[in-house]
Formats: sequence, structure tokens, C-alpha cells
Amino acid sequence: MTQVENRPRTGTSGPVVGRPIDRVDGVAKTTGAARYSAEYPYADIAHAALVHANVTRARITAVDTAAASAVRGVLAVITHLNAPPMKPARPVNLVNLSTLASGSSVNYLNTDEVHWNGQPVAVVVAETLDAAEEAAALVAVSYEELPATVDFGAQEPHATPQKSTAISSGGATKGDAEAALAAAPVSVDLRFTTPGHHHNALEPHATTAAWDGDRLVVHEGAQNVAWVRDQLAWKFDVPPAGIRVIAPYVGGAFGGKTMIWPGTILTVLAARVTGRPVRMMLTREGVYRAVGGRTPSTQRVALGADADGSMTALIHTSVTQIGRVGGGPEQVTSQSRHLYDAENILVQQNQVTLDALSNTAMRAPGESIGTFALEAAVDELAYELGIDPIELRMRNEPARNPIDGKRFAHRALREAYARGAELFGWSDRTPQPGSMRDGRWLVGMGVASAYHPSWQFQANVTVRLAADGTVLVRCGFHEMGMGGATAQAQIAADALGVPFESVRVEYGDTTLPTGPGAGGSGQTASVAASVVAACEKVQRTVLALATGSKDSPLRGQRLADLRARDGGLYRTDDTRGESYAAILGRAGRVSVDAAVGSDTRLGGIVGQMRFLSKFLLDNRRWVKAASGAQFCEVRVDPDTGEVRVSRWLGVFDVGTVINAKTASSQLRGGIVMGLGMALGEETLVDPRTGRIMNANLSDYHVPVHADVPPIEVHYLDEPDPTMPLGLIGVGEVGITGVAAAVANAVHHATGRRVRDLPITLDKLL
Ligand code: MOS
Repeated sequence: MTQVENRPRTGTSGPVVGRPIDRVDGVAKTTGAARYSAEYPYADIAHAALVHANVTRARITAVDTAAASAVRGVLAVITHLNAPPMKPARPVNLVNLSTLASGSSVNYLNTDEVHWNGQPVAVVVAETLDAAEEAAALVAVSYEELPATVDFGAQEPHATPQKSTAISSGGATKGDAEAALAAAPVSVDLRFTTPGHHHNALEPHATTAAWDGDRLVVHEGAQNVAWVRDQLAWKFDVPPAGIRVIAPYVGGAFGGKTMIWPGTILTVLAARVTGRPVRMMLTREGVYRAVGGRTPSTQRVALGADADGSMTALIHTSVTQIGRVGGGPEQVTSQSRHLYDAENILVQQNQVTLDALSNTAMRAPGESIGTFALEAAVDELAYELGIDPIELRMRNEPARNPIDGKRFAHRALREAYARGAELFGWSDRTPQPGSMRDGRWLVGMGVASAYHPSWQFQANVTVRLAADGTVLVRCGFHEMGMGGATAQAQIAADALGVPFESVRVEYGDTTLPTGPGAGGSGQTASVAASVVAACEKVQRTVLALATGSKDSPLRGQRLADLRARDGGLYRTDDTRGESYAAILGRAGRVSVDAAVGSDTRLGGIVGQMRFLSKFLLDNRRWVKAASGAQFCEVRVDPDTGEVRVSRWLGVFDVGTVINAKTASSQLRGGIVMGLGMALGEETLVDPRTGRIMNANLSDYHVPVHADVPPIEVHYLDEPDPTMPLGLIGVGEVGITGVAAAVANAVHHATGRRVRDLPITLDKLL
């Protein structure tokens, strides 16, 4: 039932980019041929299982491993009493971004300290998984418990402002928003809460590690193989060049496989200790205990407006949590600097520090929950004003970035709303809450804006054109389900003017040129820029071979003219010229190769400096982002409070669409994840102990098929002039605005405002 609108492509690219091509790895994945990190066969492989602390803050006083060691097949029970030393977490420096990837500062099994409820305190290695799990349950740890701060709600009043850094900002102001709010003829001043969320990728975190002397091979479902390599090299004090991290397939990640979590480190440690290849896949519960999740939040959104709807005041403040042992600020108010042309603006992010595992990235960290509060508040203001919520947004649509007057690189929210309203049938909506029914169901329609910043990272790439006309693109980027290899093959095909089928892409391996991480919705654009540049180098070399040859029909022609013939491309099927194969054959060349970026030590530093300076320069000149309009229809049972989302439509401004099939899948996946946030997902933490109480998929509710309506995804498909090929990432923008659109639709159906996620039926009765 999903519809993909596939408009004609814009003039930035050739015939392959834009086509909804099937994934190159689709058959391998659906037939089981694709190998994931826990599926690599090693002779003599051993299995590991973690022992998690069940106290919050403590010192370990004793560990009794006798019963565990006696289990048949157990090879080792490793605790802080017998583990070899590892280096403490590496200090962060911005020249080497891999230093950001330490999941926490805890030196696992090198300390008797427990910092959160669930911290791994031992790892058991055995001949079989069953033996490892049985023995892990028999490890008896005694603790001296220490006072701990774990209750987010109780700590919230003591939150402190986030500090601004080079790449993130804790707060900003324009004018005097509080005074403007007080003076506004119409205003709302609202408090919202969102719970913690945990990662539930289809593939739980898994590691297979095999040492050979000081050389190490690691199969790890990672979003950044180079970061895993560098972190492990640091921890185990071996040269990074001796470590190979392999991750051609990742079974979903969503930010949860960006940092290096204890399961990875302790599998590598277990392999070191036992001298055997070791495999460990976290249990579903283990993911909750040993991998960070999304912070809970409380948010204040206050809006003031004139009677005509012009916003005079916009205030958005937030409180989130970090762990005492790690975690980062979440950009909860990020979108509130960009979406509305308010005269006075105040945004400020605050945080509390708890004795909990580090919070970590989860799809649109910040904006996913920040757009909930902002966009629900805008809907409330619209009702106060008696103005249609889309019309209110259009009256406050800025021409320039509201807070500082910077230009938008791309901004088409007006078009997105206009298209969406028409396609969704917004004009059928009667504004009065509770006024629309379908039989006994109350029907509601709601909208909200989607917004996510656009990132571009450093990507080293090589491209080889072989004498048989085939093309090999190599880059250590990542495939966690988004279709990255397919998109890059499309891009290379057009950049060289060859058929899609003749391009092969290698990725997900540290032996390849270092790619970007799969994060920040930035991977496709980052790799695309380097693929295009490398293909241009290849093409220039090949064409020079032809124009310099007396036997070529292209002899004596100017390169620029050749390349200008067909929208900047030279095509091998161009009857006016000759094929690449013919050119290479005559020249006696096996291949023509080109590289962008370098993996020497100096090359790495130059690459990072280039990334940082481009980022800072871009940031001064432009505001770059993906955006969109989310349309939701719900049906609410008036007796039980049950909410069914019955229709969804999103229109997105994501620049050039490289592959309408994979891009739609990304956006749809984001929307589904947003439905989970709106209606079900909630990490329940015991406020006395900090222990997660629902660390399983039966008590933590993610959307299932029956919860998801037909989702229509549409694009404006206009290139962003400041991005490679005009493309803006699609990985995260889909989730943003979703929870607000649901909440707004629920209000339209029922007249009830639910400002505390998730919107469970008890809150509607
Ligand atoms: Mo992400 S949350 O940038 O994987």
C-alpha cells in the first residue's frame, strides 16, 4: 500500500541516479547468504556470556566463581581479579574523532567499581553457548553498596546548563523572549515529558574476535569500523594496523552501534585470555543493560503570538540526562532555532548527571523528542488563536534562519505542506475536536514539521576502472539496512557514464579506505562527494589516454569539450567517441585507478582538519537541513482509549533522491520508529535502584505490523545547491515530528492533550 512518487530527476546527475533500483544485497539478505557478525565460522570457536551487576553503585567485595568454573565446558571465568590490564578510556580530541567513540569511561574488569545497575562485572567463556550462559548465572558477586543518584525526576530541578562546544550549542537567545511572552495577547506555556528509549535492532550487538599474536580480526556489527579498530587498539595497546574490523552487514543500528560498548571489549578480552576465537551476541536483555539508550527529557515550550498568529516569543528549554561515566548532550532544542520566525527566541538545554549507563545516539537524538514538544505546542497555539495549524506555520515561515539571520541552504516547507495538504485531503478536516467520526471511532487529523540538520564527513575512496569496463568502488562505509552500496553504485555509474550493473562497491571493512561512520544521516552525501571526485579523476585519465592517441577518434579533442557533451558526463555508449574498454585496451592498461583522501597518518589528520574547517565554514554561511511535513490520521475508541493510526503521509525536502526505493524505506522506517515513540516505547527505570524494569520486547513495546498504517512518502526532489549531488540525508528526518503529529491528531479526535509520551490508553480515559 505504500506509494512512492517518483518525479523526474533534476539536472544534477545521469540516468541511473534517482531510479528505484533494488538493493544490490537484497537477495543475499533475504536468502540468508549475507553473514552477520555472529555467523562467521571459526574452527575451535568459543562462546562468551556476560555477568551483569544487579546493584547500582558499589564496590565488589568478593566474587565466587567456583560453581561457574565447575560447569562442564567452561574455559574461563574472567573477573577484575584475574583479567589482564587494559588501558583506561582514551581522552577525546577533535583531530581524531574515533576518540569520541568510547561508550563509557569504565575500564571493565580492570576495576572493582560498579557505576550502573547492569554494568558487566564478569565474562564467562565456554565451549558452548549453553555452558557459558549457565555458568554466567552461577557467578556469585558480593558488593558493598554505595549511595547513588538514579531518579531523573527527582534530579530534574537541579539540572545545569549544557556548555556549548565547537560542534554543539547549549543555548541561544534573540531579544527578550520572557518579556515578549508575558506581553503576548495569545500564548501557551507548556511542559512536556518523554521517557527513555532503548535500542532494539533486529540484530542484537554481536562480536566475533580472533587473535593471532598481536593481530586481531573482529567481526562487529558496527556503524563505524574505523572507530572500533582505533578504540580496540588503544584499549589493548596494539597497533591499529594489526586490527581488522569487518562489518559488511549490520542488522539495524539506529545509533546504538556507534560507540564501543562493553560486549565488544570483553569479547576481545575473552579471546585474548583463552587464546581461542570467541563469539558473543548480547541477549535482548543484555542490550538494555550494556548499551546506552535515548535520554528521558522534560521540556518547556512557551509561545506567544499576536492575534493574527505572528509569533512574538518562542521559548524551548529542556532537561536530559547523562551518565556519570559518559554520554552526551542531546540537541533537544535544535529545531527550535530554525522553524519559526519568532521575534524573540530563547532556547536552552540543561542536563542532570546520574549513576546510569551513558545515554547514546538514537535516531535523530535531540530532534526526535524536541520536535514532539515544539510541534505539539504550535498546535496548541493554533487552537488558542483559532487558526488552522498549517496556516499558523505558514504565517511564521522564516525567509532566513530566525535566530541569527543566516541563509538556508535549502528550505521548502511551504511546498511540502501545500503538497501534503492536497494529497492528504486536509481540507476535509473539520477543525472542532471530536467532530469527525467513523462509526463509533473518533477520527482525528494532525500535522507536524519534520526537521533534521544535514551533515557531511570525510570519506576516503578509491575507484578502479578495469579494461573490461567494470568499475570497483572501495570505501569503508557501512550498511545497516539503508541501501548504501546500491546508492553509491548508482552514483558511480552516472559519474563515469557506465551501466549500473558494471559497478561493484566494497564497504564495511577497515582494510578499505577509511569511510565515514553511518551516522548523522551523513554517510550517503559524504561518500558520494568522494565517489564523484574519484570518478572524475579516473575519467580524466582515461580520456587523456584517448585524446593523446593518434589512433583514437577522440584524438586532439579537448577534455573539457568531451566532458561537457552530455551534462558533464562522457558516456561509453556515445557513438561519437569510443568505449573505455577500447581506450584502455589500446593503451595496454589493465586498469585506471584514482583515490580521494589518504589513510596515511598525515592523510588522516589532513582529512579531519579538512572536515572540521569545511564544517565550521559551512556553519557560518548556511543552515543546512532536511525537513518535511508529517500528516497523521488516527481513530480513537471512545470507550477504551485505544489509538489506531489509520493513515500517514509525509512530504519531505531531502534534496536529490538517489534511489526512491531505499530512500522511501529509510523515511518510512523513521516514521514507524516515531509511531513507537508516540504510542508505546518507554524504558521503565526503578527510581530507587536505577534498574531497567522492562528489559525485554514483551514489556517494552515497539510497533508491530498491525500497528502501522499505509505510509505514503513523497519528495520535493529539488537538489540542495550546497550538498554533493544536491542530496540531503534521509536516515533521521523521518522520525522527527511523528510523535507530535500523532498527539495533535489525538487531540483533534478527542479534545485531550497528552503531553507525556507515550500516549497510552490510560492517559485518554
Ligand atoms: Mo545515528 S542516531 O546518527 O545512527
